Amino acid sequence: MKRLTLTRFMIEEQRRSGLLRPELRLLIETVARACKSISHAVGKGALGEVLGNLATENVQGEVQKKLDVIANELLLEANEWGGHLAAMASEEMETIHRIPSRYPKGEYLLLFDPIDGSSNIDVDLSVGTIFSVLTAPADASGREITEQDFMQPGSRQVAAGYAIYGPQTLLVLTLGTGVYEFTLDREVGSWQMTDGPMRLSEGTCEFAINMARHQQWSPAIRRYIDERLAGEDGPCGKDYNMRWTASMVADVHRILKRGGIFLYPADHRTSGKARLRLMYEANPMALLIEQAGGAANNGLERILDVEPQGLHERVGVILGDKKEVEAVAAYGLELREIAHS
Ligand code: F6P
Ligand code: MN
Repeated sequence: MKRLTLTRFMIEEQRRSGLLRPELRLLIETVARACKSISHAVGKGALGEVLGNLATENVQGEVQKKLDVIANELLLEANEWGGHLAAMASEEMETIHRIPSRYPKGEYLLLFDPIDGSSNIDVDLSVGTIFSVLTAPADASGREITEQDFMQPGSRQVAAGYAIYGPQTLLVLTLGTGVYEFTLDREVGSWQMTDGPMRLSEGTCEFAINMARHQQWSPAIRRYIDERLAGEDGPCGKDYNMRWTASMVADVHRILKRGGIFLYPADHRTSGKARLRLMYEANPMALLIEQAGGAANNGLERILDVEPQGLHERVGVILGDKKEVEAVAAYGLELREIAHS
Protein backbone atom coordinates (compact mmCIF):
# COMPACT_ATOMS: atom_id res chain seq x y z
CA MET A 1 0.00 0.00 0.00
CA LYS A 2 1.35 3.41 -0.99
CA ARG A 3 1.22 5.81 1.93
CA LEU A 4 1.83 9.52 2.28
CA THR A 5 5.11 10.34 4.00
CA LEU A 6 5.33 13.12 6.58
CA THR A 7 7.44 15.19 4.17
CA ARG A 8 4.98 14.87 1.31
CA PHE A 9 2.00 15.51 3.59
CA MET A 10 3.54 18.79 4.76
CA ILE A 11 4.58 19.89 1.27
CA GLU A 12 1.05 19.23 -0.01
CA GLU A 13 -0.37 21.06 3.01
CA GLN A 14 1.90 24.00 2.21
CA ARG A 15 0.62 24.10 -1.39
CA ARG A 16 -3.01 23.53 -0.42
CA SER A 17 -3.44 26.05 2.34
CA GLY A 18 -0.57 28.41 1.66
CA LEU A 19 -0.54 28.85 5.44
CA LEU A 20 2.19 26.41 6.35
CA ARG A 21 5.47 28.27 6.09
CA PRO A 22 8.48 26.30 4.74
CA GLU A 23 10.44 27.22 7.91
CA LEU A 24 7.78 25.59 10.09
CA ARG A 25 7.76 22.52 7.86
CA LEU A 26 11.53 22.18 8.21
CA LEU A 27 11.29 22.67 11.95
CA ILE A 28 8.74 19.83 12.24
CA GLU A 29 10.99 17.63 10.07
CA THR A 30 13.84 18.30 12.49
CA VAL A 31 11.75 17.50 15.57
CA ALA A 32 10.57 14.31 13.87
CA ARG A 33 14.19 13.38 13.08
CA ALA A 34 15.17 13.86 16.73
CA CYS A 35 12.23 11.65 17.74
CA LYS A 36 13.62 8.90 15.50
CA SER A 37 16.91 9.07 17.43
CA ILE A 38 15.05 9.03 20.76
CA SER A 39 13.04 6.03 19.58
CA HIS A 40 16.29 4.27 18.74
CA ALA A 41 17.76 5.03 22.19
CA VAL A 42 14.56 3.92 23.98
CA GLY A 43 14.53 0.70 21.95
CA LYS A 44 18.09 -0.21 23.01
CA GLY A 45 17.10 -0.33 26.68
CA ALA A 46 19.60 -2.04 28.94
CA LEU A 47 21.77 -2.95 25.92
CA GLY A 48 22.36 0.75 25.28
CA GLU A 49 22.91 1.38 29.00
CA VAL A 50 20.22 4.04 28.87
CA LEU A 51 18.00 2.77 31.71
CA GLY A 52 17.99 3.91 35.33
CA ASN A 53 18.34 7.16 37.24
CA LEU A 54 21.00 9.83 37.36
CA ALA A 55 22.08 11.50 40.57
CA THR A 56 20.55 14.79 39.38
CA GLU A 57 17.09 16.34 39.78
CA ASN A 58 15.33 18.55 37.27
CA VAL A 59 13.91 21.98 38.07
CA GLN A 60 10.71 20.40 39.39
CA GLY A 61 12.67 18.34 41.93
CA GLU A 62 12.09 15.08 40.05
CA VAL A 63 14.92 12.54 39.81
CA GLN A 64 16.22 12.58 36.25
CA LYS A 65 16.36 9.36 34.31
CA LYS A 66 19.29 8.80 31.97
CA LEU A 67 16.90 8.85 29.06
CA ASP A 68 15.37 12.20 30.15
CA VAL A 69 18.77 13.77 29.70
CA ILE A 70 19.71 11.85 26.52
CA ALA A 71 16.41 12.80 24.83
CA ASN A 72 16.76 16.42 25.94
CA GLU A 73 20.26 16.57 24.40
CA LEU A 74 19.07 14.95 21.16
CA LEU A 75 16.30 17.53 20.78
CA LEU A 76 18.59 20.46 21.58
CA GLU A 77 21.33 19.32 19.20
CA ALA A 78 18.98 18.55 16.32
CA ASN A 79 17.17 21.87 16.56
CA GLU A 80 19.96 24.27 17.40
CA TRP A 81 21.58 24.87 14.02
CA GLY A 82 18.69 24.75 11.53
CA GLY A 83 17.95 28.48 11.60
CA HIS A 84 14.21 28.07 12.32
CA LEU A 85 14.24 28.74 16.04
CA ALA A 86 14.76 31.70 18.31
CA ALA A 87 14.86 29.61 21.51
CA MET A 88 13.78 26.36 23.15
CA ALA A 89 12.36 25.37 26.52
CA SER A 90 12.16 21.95 28.09
CA GLU A 91 10.84 20.17 31.16
CA GLU A 92 14.45 19.23 31.88
CA MET A 93 15.90 22.78 31.86
CA GLU A 94 15.27 25.47 34.42
CA THR A 95 15.31 28.31 31.94
CA ILE A 96 15.17 28.79 28.17
CA HIS A 97 17.89 27.69 25.76
CA ARG A 98 18.70 30.50 23.33
CA ILE A 99 20.09 29.67 19.91
CA PRO A 100 23.88 30.24 20.13
CA SER A 101 25.06 33.31 18.26
CA ARG A 102 27.12 31.22 15.80
CA TYR A 103 23.87 29.98 14.21
CA PRO A 104 21.20 31.96 12.38
CA LYS A 105 18.09 32.69 14.43
CA GLY A 106 14.55 31.97 13.27
CA GLU A 107 11.17 33.15 14.49
CA TYR A 108 9.84 30.04 16.24
CA LEU A 109 9.91 28.95 19.87
CA LEU A 110 9.98 25.22 20.58
CA LEU A 111 8.89 23.68 23.90
CA PHE A 112 9.15 20.02 24.77
CA ASP A 113 8.86 17.28 27.34
CA PRO A 114 11.67 15.05 26.03
CA ILE A 115 10.49 11.84 27.75
CA ASP A 116 6.96 11.91 29.08
CA GLY A 117 5.98 9.17 31.51
CA SER A 118 9.60 8.45 32.43
CA SER A 119 8.63 6.06 35.25
CA ASN A 120 7.67 3.64 32.45
CA ILE A 121 11.16 3.54 30.94
CA ASP A 122 12.63 0.92 33.23
CA VAL A 123 9.62 -1.40 32.97
CA ASP A 124 9.34 -1.41 29.17
CA LEU A 125 6.04 0.44 28.88
CA SER A 126 5.20 3.29 26.51
CA VAL A 127 6.82 6.67 26.89
CA GLY A 128 6.70 9.64 24.54
CA THR A 129 7.97 13.09 23.55
CA ILE A 130 5.54 16.03 23.59
CA PHE A 131 6.22 19.28 21.72
CA SER A 132 4.65 22.65 21.10
CA VAL A 133 5.60 25.44 18.67
CA LEU A 134 4.93 29.15 19.22
CA THR A 135 5.97 32.19 17.23
CA ALA A 136 8.29 34.66 18.93
CA PRO A 137 6.68 38.09 19.40
CA ALA A 138 7.19 40.42 16.43
CA ASP A 139 9.34 42.81 18.46
CA ALA A 140 11.75 40.01 19.42
CA SER A 141 13.83 40.04 16.24
CA GLY A 142 17.17 41.71 16.80
CA ARG A 143 17.05 41.41 20.59
CA GLU A 144 17.67 38.60 23.06
CA ILE A 145 14.75 36.22 23.56
CA THR A 146 13.47 36.09 27.15
CA GLU A 147 11.27 33.70 29.10
CA GLN A 148 8.55 36.33 28.86
CA ASP A 149 8.42 35.78 25.07
CA PHE A 150 7.19 32.24 25.77
CA MET A 151 4.30 33.45 27.95
CA GLN A 152 1.60 32.99 25.32
CA PRO A 153 -1.66 31.07 25.68
CA GLY A 154 -1.88 27.66 23.99
CA SER A 155 -4.34 29.04 21.44
CA ARG A 156 -1.31 30.72 19.84
CA GLN A 157 0.47 27.41 19.11
CA VAL A 158 1.20 27.02 15.39
CA ALA A 159 1.95 23.31 15.71
CA ALA A 160 1.87 20.65 18.40
CA GLY A 161 2.34 16.93 18.62
CA TYR A 162 3.86 13.94 20.29
CA ALA A 163 5.87 10.87 19.45
CA ILE A 164 4.97 7.67 21.23
CA TYR A 165 7.56 4.95 21.74
CA GLY A 166 5.46 1.83 22.17
CA PRO A 167 5.23 -1.41 20.21
CA GLN A 168 5.26 0.97 17.24
CA THR A 169 6.81 4.43 17.13
CA LEU A 170 4.22 6.99 16.06
CA LEU A 171 4.17 10.71 15.48
CA VAL A 172 0.86 12.50 16.03
CA LEU A 173 0.83 16.02 14.69
CA THR A 174 -1.38 19.06 14.23
CA LEU A 175 -0.48 22.13 12.24
CA GLY A 176 -3.79 23.68 13.29
CA THR A 177 -5.81 21.98 10.55
CA GLY A 178 -6.64 18.50 11.80
CA VAL A 179 -4.65 15.75 13.50
CA TYR A 180 -2.58 13.18 11.61
CA GLU A 181 -0.75 10.06 12.72
CA PHE A 182 2.46 8.79 11.12
CA THR A 183 4.10 5.44 11.86
CA LEU A 184 7.87 5.13 11.76
CA ASP A 185 8.98 2.62 9.16
CA ARG A 186 12.07 1.49 11.03
CA GLU A 187 13.80 -0.14 8.05
CA VAL A 188 13.42 2.83 5.72
CA GLY A 189 13.54 5.47 8.45
CA SER A 190 10.54 7.39 7.15
CA TRP A 191 7.30 8.50 8.78
CA GLN A 192 4.26 7.20 6.90
CA MET A 193 0.71 8.43 7.43
CA THR A 194 -1.42 5.77 9.08
CA ASP A 195 -4.40 7.78 10.33
CA GLY A 196 -6.02 11.15 9.80
CA PRO A 197 -7.71 13.44 9.95
CA MET A 198 -8.32 11.83 13.33
CA ARG A 199 -11.73 12.28 14.98
CA LEU A 200 -12.43 11.44 18.60
CA SER A 201 -15.18 8.82 18.86
CA GLU A 202 -18.06 10.00 20.99
CA GLY A 203 -19.87 8.08 23.69
CA THR A 204 -17.00 5.74 24.63
CA CYS A 205 -17.26 4.42 28.18
CA GLU A 206 -13.63 4.83 29.20
CA PHE A 207 -11.90 7.14 31.60
CA ALA A 208 -8.25 7.55 32.55
CA ILE A 209 -7.43 8.87 36.02
CA ASN A 210 -5.02 7.96 38.81
CA MET A 211 -7.60 6.49 41.21
CA ALA A 212 -5.11 6.50 44.09
CA ARG A 213 -5.46 10.28 44.26
CA HIS A 214 -9.22 10.26 44.95
CA GLN A 215 -8.76 11.90 48.34
CA GLN A 216 -7.34 14.94 46.53
CA TRP A 217 -10.25 15.36 44.12
CA SER A 218 -12.79 18.14 44.27
CA PRO A 219 -16.44 17.19 44.89
CA ALA A 220 -17.12 17.64 41.15
CA ILE A 221 -14.45 15.12 40.09
CA ARG A 222 -15.55 12.71 42.82
CA ARG A 223 -19.14 12.91 41.66
CA TYR A 224 -18.19 12.43 38.02
CA ILE A 225 -16.06 9.33 38.73
CA ASP A 226 -18.44 7.86 41.34
CA GLU A 227 -21.32 8.07 38.88
CA ARG A 228 -19.26 6.22 36.26
CA LEU A 229 -18.16 3.60 38.78
CA ALA A 230 -21.82 2.96 39.62
CA GLY A 231 -22.09 1.49 36.11
CA GLU A 232 -25.32 0.23 34.64
CA ASP A 233 -27.29 0.78 37.85
CA GLY A 234 -26.00 4.32 38.33
CA PRO A 235 -27.14 7.61 36.77
CA CYS A 236 -25.10 6.98 33.58
CA GLY A 237 -26.91 3.69 32.96
CA LYS A 238 -23.83 2.00 31.50
CA ASP A 239 -20.63 0.31 32.62
CA TYR A 240 -17.37 2.17 32.24
CA ASN A 241 -13.77 0.99 31.97
CA MET A 242 -10.80 2.64 33.65
CA ARG A 243 -7.31 2.71 32.07
CA TRP A 244 -4.16 4.36 33.45
CA THR A 245 -0.71 4.02 31.90
CA ALA A 246 1.06 6.75 33.95
CA SER A 247 2.28 8.24 30.68
CA MET A 248 0.18 11.14 29.46
CA VAL A 249 1.20 10.44 25.87
CA ALA A 250 -0.01 6.84 26.04
CA ASP A 251 -3.24 7.72 27.88
CA VAL A 252 -4.10 10.60 25.55
CA HIS A 253 -3.20 8.52 22.50
CA ARG A 254 -5.66 5.83 23.59
CA ILE A 255 -8.35 8.49 23.87
CA LEU A 256 -7.53 9.93 20.44
CA LYS A 257 -7.89 6.45 18.95
CA ARG A 258 -10.82 5.11 20.97
CA GLY A 259 -12.56 8.04 22.66
CA GLY A 260 -13.06 8.63 26.38
CA ILE A 261 -11.79 11.15 28.91
CA PHE A 262 -8.43 11.80 30.64
CA LEU A 263 -8.30 13.57 33.98
CA TYR A 264 -5.39 14.81 36.05
CA PRO A 265 -7.26 17.38 38.11
CA ALA A 266 -5.67 19.95 40.37
CA ASP A 267 -5.38 18.92 44.00
CA HIS A 268 -8.46 20.20 45.82
CA ARG A 269 -6.81 20.08 49.25
CA THR A 270 -3.77 22.18 48.46
CA SER A 271 -5.62 25.02 46.72
CA GLY A 272 -5.17 23.88 43.19
CA LYS A 273 -1.71 22.29 43.14
CA ALA A 274 -1.57 20.33 39.90
CA ARG A 275 0.72 17.72 38.34
CA LEU A 276 0.94 18.33 34.62
CA ARG A 277 2.79 21.22 33.06
CA LEU A 278 0.86 23.78 31.03
CA MET A 279 3.36 24.82 28.38
CA TYR A 280 4.74 21.49 27.12
CA GLU A 281 2.18 18.92 28.30
CA ALA A 282 -1.33 20.37 28.65
CA ASN A 283 -1.23 22.94 25.81
CA PRO A 284 -0.02 20.65 23.01
CA MET A 285 -2.38 17.86 24.11
CA ALA A 286 -5.29 20.33 24.36
CA LEU A 287 -4.67 21.57 20.83
CA LEU A 288 -4.52 18.02 19.45
CA ILE A 289 -7.70 17.00 21.28
CA GLU A 290 -9.61 20.11 20.16
CA GLN A 291 -8.42 19.63 16.59
CA ALA A 292 -9.82 16.08 16.73
CA GLY A 293 -13.23 17.39 17.89
CA GLY A 294 -12.77 17.01 21.65
CA ALA A 295 -12.46 19.52 24.50
CA ALA A 296 -9.85 20.35 27.14
CA ASN A 297 -10.20 22.44 30.28
CA ASN A 298 -8.58 22.83 33.67
CA GLY A 299 -11.85 22.56 35.60
CA LEU A 300 -12.58 26.26 35.24
CA GLU A 301 -11.52 27.41 31.80
CA ARG A 302 -10.38 26.16 28.41
CA ILE A 303 -6.73 25.12 28.70
CA LEU A 304 -5.80 26.93 25.47
CA ASP A 305 -7.03 30.22 27.00
CA VAL A 306 -4.90 30.01 30.17
CA GLU A 307 -2.43 32.92 30.28
CA PRO A 308 0.84 31.35 31.41
CA GLN A 309 2.70 32.87 34.35
CA GLY A 310 5.79 30.66 34.23
CA LEU A 311 7.62 28.22 31.99
CA HIS A 312 7.04 25.26 34.32
CA GLU A 313 3.58 26.24 35.56
CA ARG A 314 1.28 23.32 36.37
CA VAL A 315 -2.37 23.01 35.52
CA GLY A 316 -5.31 20.66 36.11
CA VAL A 317 -6.19 18.73 32.96
CA ILE A 318 -9.55 17.32 31.90
CA LEU A 319 -9.63 16.41 28.21
CA GLY A 320 -11.28 14.15 25.67
CA ASP A 321 -14.88 13.52 24.64
CA LYS A 322 -16.59 16.91 24.57
CA LYS A 323 -19.78 15.75 26.29
CA GLU A 324 -17.85 14.07 29.11
CA VAL A 325 -15.57 17.10 29.62
CA GLU A 326 -18.66 19.31 29.67
CA ALA A 327 -20.30 17.00 32.23
CA VAL A 328 -17.34 17.46 34.61
CA ALA A 329 -17.44 21.23 34.07
CA ALA A 330 -21.19 21.33 34.71
CA TYR A 331 -20.77 19.47 38.03
CA GLY A 332 -18.11 21.98 39.01
CA LEU A 333 -20.35 24.86 38.10
CA GLU A 334 -23.28 23.43 40.03
CA LEU A 335 -21.15 22.99 43.12
CA ARG A 336 -19.67 26.46 42.85
CA GLU A 337 -23.19 27.85 42.53
CA ILE A 338 -24.34 25.90 45.60
CA ALA A 339 -21.28 27.10 47.55
CA HIS A 340 -21.97 30.71 46.62
CA SER A 341 -25.75 30.67 47.17
O1 F6P B 1 4.81 13.96 33.02
C1 F6P B 1 4.02 13.66 34.08
C2 F6P B 1 3.45 12.25 34.03
O2 F6P B 1 4.46 11.27 33.97
C3 F6P B 1 2.43 12.03 32.92
O3 F6P B 1 2.99 11.50 31.77
C4 F6P B 1 1.43 11.08 33.57
O4 F6P B 1 0.13 11.29 33.08
C5 F6P B 1 1.54 11.41 35.01
O5 F6P B 1 2.73 12.11 35.23
C6 F6P B 1 1.53 10.15 35.85
O6 F6P B 1 1.23 10.51 37.13
P1 F6P B 1 1.09 9.47 38.34
O7 F6P B 1 2.49 9.24 38.81
O8 F6P B 1 0.24 10.17 39.32
O9 F6P B 1 0.47 8.21 37.81
MN1 MN C 1 5.63 14.52 31.09
